[in-house]
Amino acid sequence: MWKKRLFFLLLAGVVLWPLARDEALPADAQADLPAEMKYIALTFDDGPRRGTTERLLDGLRERGASATFFLVGEEIAGSEDLVRRMAAEGHQVGNHTWSHVRLAGTAPETAEEEVRRTQAALEELLGEGTYWLRPPYGLIDEDMETDVPMVKWSVDPRDWESRNAAQVTQAVLRDARPNAIILLHDIYPSSVEAALKIVDALEAEGYWFVTVEELLRLNGVTPEAGVMYRSGRG
Ligand code: NI
Repeated sequence: MWKKRLFFLLLAGVVLWPLARDEALPADAQADLPAEMKYIALTFDDGPRRGTTERLLDGLRERGASATFFLVGEEIAGSEDLVRRMAAEGHQVGNHTWSHVRLAGTAPETAEEEVRRTQAALEELLGEGTYWLRPPYGLIDEDMETDVPMVKWSVDPRDWESRNAAQVTQAVLRDARPNAIILLHDIYPSSVEAALKIVDALEAEGYWFVTVEELLRLNGVTPEAGVMYRSGRG
């Protein structure tokens, strides 16, 4: 867990740095410090799934990496321990509807119920909170009202299609940039294998793996309900 503690020390440094900088340095020194920090977010949809999700949580813990999980409500029963573990180990837990329904084009009352049921299941397990929404397929009707922030992605290796760890790893490493939000699915063994290889490769390049909420806040973005975020910059 030393990495986690180091991360929060660094986070405090980033937050406090502008105060110190204004007093001590000319304005053109701005590029010096925060630019050296590279943050990126891994997101996992469609779980939890016994076996693959457990292996992923073990691997992330060994590497001191945080991630964000968007859960399908009807998959939670029987894997409650995994969901509690996600929260306890510093990952962000979010909502991916109850039955992975395509919200766009769905009757408003059905769409709302799909989101509400998973929200209720998460609150029962983890307590009251803001459980961000990733709409399945990234699609939502423009007039659908949500009272939480929403998350899309900026890197999609289509892991569900190839189910090939080497291909998925290569595609993500090719497209990875600071502040990217990477889309993976923790229900496939190949995606879990790829995710851990991606963490190893990018940590070696100086990246820090943070949750989506942390990524936005590190960029000075205050997450707002009803807004769809695609990267750490907004
Ligand atoms: Ni999905």
